[in-house]
Amino acid sequence: MNRNDFPILTEQVHHRPLVYLDNAATSQKPQAVVDAIVEAYSHWNSNIHRGVHHLSQVATIHHEEARQAVARFIHADSSDEIIFTKGTTDSLNALAFSFGEAFIHEGDEIIVSGVEHHSNIVPWQMLCERKKAVLRHIPLREDLSLDIEAFRGLLGDRTRLVSVAQVSNVLGIINPIEEIIRLAHERHIPVCIDGAQSVPHMQVDVQALDCDFLAFSGHKMYGPTGIGVLYGKREWLNRLPPHEGGGEMIHHVRWSGTTYNDLPYKFEAGTPNFVGSYALHRAIDYMLSVGWPAIEKHERELTEYCESRLGDIDGVRIYAAGQPKAGVVSFNLYAGNQLIHPFDIGTLLDQQGVAVRTGHHCAEPLIDEMQVPGTVRVSFGLYNDKSDVDAFITALRKAQMMLS
Ligand code: ALA
Repeated sequence: MNRNDFPILTEQVHHRPLVYLDNAATSQKPQAVVDAIVEAYSHWNSNIHRGVHHLSQVATIHHEEARQAVARFIHADSSDEIIFTKGTTDSLNALAFSFGEAFIHEGDEIIVSGVEHHSNIVPWQMLCERKKAVLRHIPLREDLSLDIEAFRGLLGDRTRLVSVAQVSNVLGIINPIEEIIRLAHERHIPVCIDGAQSVPHMQVDVQALDCDFLAFSGHKMYGPTGIGVLYGKREWLNRLPPHEGGGEMIHHVRWSGTTYNDLPYKFEAGTPNFVGSYALHRAIDYMLSVGWPAIEKHERELTEYCESRLGDIDGVRIYAAGQPKAGVVSFNLYAGNQLIHPFDIGTLLDQQGVAVRTGHHCAEPLIDEMQVPGTVRVSFGLYNDKSDVDAFITALRKAQMMLS
């Protein structure tokens, strides 16, 4: 991994070198990804699957090669199981609508967990409202990990789907999804994994996990914004209706009715983001050139280093400290018993060039349960190193002095 591959990292913010520690919100892009976007629009931009002309065929080949690259990346059985979406939120909304149309009826139950991002809560709430179904959530233990015993008790005859994050975007905790999938499958209940915060940081193998659906975003894994993936097992996708109508997703349209296309096109109405898929392919190539062992080891070490350095600062409270995490450290700073608002910390860090996220991180139910107004969240990408942590700690100590 080479920081020089990421042009933005040489930027200055408030006349200070940028220290970018907000990767859970979005990652920065290597030059190869930026170049791919320029190349696509400069050389072969053309609508795919529609033209017999040369450029259309080139664009189509690039888009379908990207689908195959994604399938290999998550070890899907077939590229037919890879649906391109706008991102994780879009993937989860698509699934909630489609699965809901086919399988959810009054009184049915869907289970999420207490650490979910809003995008893995609200689409299910909307579905439950439409269908008069019930949304349940796995409660948390004292240490903010999921209470798997309680989950066991939630699974029942009316449970139709479980949807959980593999990694919490607020805490970085790696959830025991293998066990969740096993327990749900004992009752033949399908499981959707929100992989927004895991796929960029750990090798995810959908066949080894045996998850039924997986949602993730391109922009958090060094790819462009506006492209994401919904993976689904073929047998499930074949049973689900399309969530959107339009071009591309049809076989034939007659006034008497429409027949739908095969997988995966049934779920891809309209002109797909073929420039995004091409650039995402380059991002995948970039990650694989670094390699999973190196990425996972590097980010684990950085997370541990950050927790240990933070632990030396009086008044810091790290959430879920010491638990297995994927590149995220969330904390608050106290002056005596008084919590210093995370927004104030974030603003003072920003003035020193350090970018972190503060607030509820789009996970209000979790933040409510933690009984804080929010947290300060540091999140790593493969280009961060110990010098970023050191710069952040220095800036935090300065902020602490200014605020106390
Ligand atoms: N979901 C993104 C985050 O956690 C935006 O910051």
